[in-house]
Order: sequence, then C-alpha cells, then structure tokens
Amino acid sequence: MPNDSIPRRVLFVCLGNICRSPAAEGVFAKLATAARLHERGVSWDSCGVAGWHAGDLPDSRMLEAASRRGITLTHRARKLRREDFADFDLILTMDDANYSDVCEHAPDKAMVAKVKPMADYLRSMRYAYIPDPYYGTADDFELVLDLLEDACTTLVQDLDKALPASAA
Ligand code: 4NP
Repeated sequence: MPNDSIPRRVLFVCLGNICRSPAAEGVFAKLATAARLHERGVSWDSCGVAGWHAGDLPDSRMLEAASRRGITLTHRARKLRREDFADFDLILTMDDANYSDVCEHAPDKAMVAKVKPMADYLRSMRYAYIPDPYYGTADDFELVLDLLEDACTTLVQDLDKALPASAA
C-alpha cells in the first residue's frame, strides 16, 4: 500500500466463496466502477475460508438474485491463501466465524489489523454480521444483497473521498 495508508486492494471473504463474498465483490465492483475507483488504483477479489467449491461459479440462487439487480457474477471460487495477507490491504469478513478463521491464518499482527467485519460498514441496516444464506430461503439471499449494497456503498464513499480524483 502506498504510504498514504488508504486501502486500495480489497478482499471479501466468506466460508464457501459461492454466496456472500462473490456477491460482495460484484456489488462492490458495480459501485466502485461507477465511482471510477478502478482508475484510481482500487482492485478487489474474493475467496473462501474453505476450499470445498474451488473453481465453481457462485451458487445459482445468488447468481439469479444478483442478476435481478443488474449484477453479473463471474468469479470462480478459491480458498484463502497465505499470500492474500500481503497482497491485500483490507480483508473484509462476513461473519464472526470467518473473522476468527481468517485472523488465525494471518502470518503476523500487522496482517490481523487488515481484517475487518463487513458489518462495520453498514449504515442503513443494523446487523452484526452478514448471515450465511446457503441453507436458507430466497429471502435470505435478498437480505444478503441488501446488506452488501449498504456496506459497499459506505466503503465506496469512503474510498471516493479519500483517493485523489482520476486524472482522466
Ligand atoms: P458462503 O455460503 O460462505 O456465503 O459462500 C456457503 C456456501 C457453501 C457452504 C456453506 C456456506 N457449504 O457448506 O458448502
């Protein structure tokens, strides 16, 4: 990260990397691109604490729910890797179990400081975490997307204010 300490490389993490974190990545990508953050050095990715679904597209229920909001998800699931702690500046976890698991894998304390709950960025909705919809209903997938839109809006607004305007 340049020494201005603005986090430009953002990693979204959940358990399986097929529901919440690829959706977070898609919601963030849409809002960040509209704010031209990619032109200002911001990049993003997502992964899972578990590798069960490595190589898979997101869950079809999340693909469809995101698509209804104009978001196309193309991410292929992958497991969290040790290099992610060096490669990203901000590592956003969806729930308490993800947070503990990711912190346990961090190589040192400086890396633990990069890990933050996604729910910290909620402004309109009051939830302590982003609930796992995998064994849930269609409404649970909609709730996840509502929460992610709220949190990503805050994140994009913070970065938009902090980063210099695009040269173009
Ligand atoms: P995610 O949801 O962590 O939001 O991707 C899950 C996906 C798969 C499983 C659990 C949660 N699973 O048990 O396979």
